[in-house]
Amino acid sequence: MIYKKLTWRSIISMFSCYKTKCPLKEAKKKISKQGSFQRLSLSDISISSSGQAIDDLSISLVGQKLYPFTLEELREATHDFCWSNMIGEGGFGPVYKGFIDDKIKPGLKAQSVAVKRLNLDGMQGHREWLAEIIFLGQLKHPNLVNLLGYCYEDEHRLLVYEYIPRGSLECQLFRRYTTALPWSTRIKIALGAAKGLAFLHEADKPVICRDFKTSNILLDSDYTAKLSDFGFAKDGPQGEDTHVTTRIIGTQGYAAPEYIMTGHLTTKSDVYSYGVVLLQLITGRRIMDKNRPSREQSLVEWARPLLRDQRKLHQIIDPRLEGRFPIKGAHKVAALAHKCLSHHSQPRPTMSDVINILEPLQHFDDAFIEPFVFVAANQDGRIN
Ligand SMILES: Nc1ncnc2c1ncn2[C@@H]1O[C@H](COP(=O)(O)OP(=O)(O)OP(=O)(O)O)[C@@H](O)[C@H]1O
Ligand SMILES: [Mg+2]
Repeated sequence: MIYKKLTWRSIISMFSCYKTKCPLKEAKKKISKQGSFQRLSLSDISISSSGQAIDDLSISLVGQKLYPFTLEELREATHDFCWSNMIGEGGFGPVYKGFIDDKIKPGLKAQSVAVKRLNLDGMQGHREWLAEIIFLGQLKHPNLVNLLGYCYEDEHRLLVYEYIPRGSLECQLFRRYTTALPWSTRIKIALGAAKGLAFLHEADKPVICRDFKTSNILLDSDYTAKLSDFGFAKDGPQGEDTHVTTRIIGTQGYAAPEYIMTGHLTTKSDVYSYGVVLLQLITGRRIMDKNRPSREQSLVEWARPLLRDQRKLHQIIDPRLEGRFPIKGAHKVAALAHKCLSHHSQPRPTMSDVINILEPLQHFDDAFIEPFVFVAANQDGRIN
């Protein structure tokens, strides 16, 4: 299929079809002739904001309900972007919790939402906003966050998502003064995230996430993992191609070595980042921690060699688990993390391989195991 370049304005108009009068019927006719829906790529779209006329709707995001919001509607939903509604802030800008009632958009039920507002003085902009809409507007899966809509008004760019009550894995894993995430929950999160990535990698047109990390894994009330942040996502190689070459972006500590060295990007780059997250789930440690002894500061450098030695696993496993984990299962997860963290991309497993390994490990009853008691010896080695 040959795509014509579409402008961002045309895409937005397509998303808004069910609301405004646009030639959706015509687009539908063309699509039914083609027989199947082809996902639109970011590369199919001209990112210029000149706003050329819409003259080709042969590719459309038919069936994807994405709601256009006005800035005023989102102001109301978030109490005028009130400080107390702010739930986080990342490279794109601040994120606010809000509430939309069922009168705002016909067909959209009343619900809590997360509203991400572009920081106009920040490093990200229209391109990342558009990428999020193009990818998340079309990719729907239980392990991806649901994008409900967007706002485009003058220079303002906002994104509206379903609200995910437990926030990010980053917050859950490193929150102080709370009980640690149990082992079985960690496996559930690892499995959910793996399913989200597998869905992206195995799509007809593969998608490479490029910024897979703990802060981009959101957790639902039952700890279902939902991947978020597709502003840096990239269409993967297709056909004969083995990789795409691109400028290096992502987050330090999570990016695969070959991607950093050469810019060569494959789905296996995401598998490396997944290995880093798995290592964080095993150890409960941050990717870089300046408060630790120098050789332990960089998590991957310190822990990677210990992952393949079963006798050394106790040195790295999160002490907050207090021994409540299945030994054999933990060894398997450690070996899996080690494989994902291979220096070369080829030996890394696919995300389907990861799912096959994790699936049998998910039924562990944390409550069944007695806590592990640490006994501290005094200076002469006696135990009091
Ligand atoms: N849909 C959502 N539901 C609930 N909380 C959310 C949602 N989206 C984002 N958040 C919260 O907002 C925080 C900031 O998210 P954001 O993705 O903007 O930045 P980040 O992931 O921390 O950093 P980066 O820009 O490097 O990705 C998240 O860590 C999370 O706590
Ligand atoms: Mg994020």
